[in-house]
Amino acid sequence: RKMVGKLTTGCTEFDEMMGGGIETQAITELYGEFGSGKTQLAHQLAVNVQMDREHGGLNGSVIIIDTENTFRPERIAQMVKGLSEKYGMELDPEEFLQNIHVARAYNSNHQILLVESATDLANELRDMGKPVRLLIVDSLMAHFRAEYVGRGTLADRQQKLNKHMHGLLRFGDLFNACVVVTNQVMAKPDAFFGDPTRPVGGHVVGHTATFRLYLRKSKGDKRIIRLVDSPNLPEGEAVIAVTTAGLTD
Ligand code: GTP
Ligand code: MG
Repeated sequence: RKMVGKLTTGCTEFDEMMGGGIETQAITELYGEFGSGKTQLAHQLAVNVQMDREHGGLNGSVIIIDTENTFRPERIAQMVKGLSEKYGMELDPEEFLQNIHVARAYNSNHQILLVESATDLANELRDMGKPVRLLIVDSLMAHFRAEYVGRGTLADRQQKLNKHMHGLLRFGDLFNACVVVTNQVMAKPDAFFGDPTRPVGGHVVGHTATFRLYLRKSKGDKRIIRLVDSPNLPEGEAVIAVTTAGLTD
């Protein structure tokens, strides 16, 4: 078993809450309502992972499974510029974009298959300068929710989802990579739990995600991130800001 790596979020409080950063060989779930910053954080991690260890990165490349067509290269360029300024380094946005491999998932079956393609690509890049150290699925549940409608489909959905989650866990272990998935919250208060902030995906996602982070909007560009579930860290909250330069304290 390889040593667990930590990927910086770029935010001091957030990193501290996570015991140094987002862990490799684990699934970290980001959930929260629309506009809470899940996709922004995913973009920021896709940039940070490419930095060297001195700057909190893993010197790696990233694969993004994009289910909602929300990947924005221009946003990556802004974030790279932000890091250039933060560290007083000359970083080339084009180089960063070349190390971000984006695959559109057209439906849930395709999404599951793309983890196998990701494994093939990561094997190819294994001995290259920037091996894959981060796999992002944004969003994990959108296709599943749209395709499996109604009570009778739940068992089938959960079985597929279970397979998907285990494919993701395996990827993280094989490549000593971070796996980051985004998730939505219940639109309506749940009849049994009465909590509108519960993530979707039920027990399968709940039990397979290693770290669960709940994102919510605060004043202006501020976001509050709560560590809800972790095997080894205390619950806690961190405040971050979503700015033009990217995610900051
Ligand atoms: P859903 O996918 O709809 O569930 O939401 P999400 O949690 O992925 O939200 P996302 O990360 O897309 O956050 C959108 C918010 O981030 C916007 O409302 C803005 O507040 C902020 N944001 C997005 N792009 C920029 C940008 O280029 N500059 C700045 N300063 N803020 C941005
Ligand atoms: Mg999003």
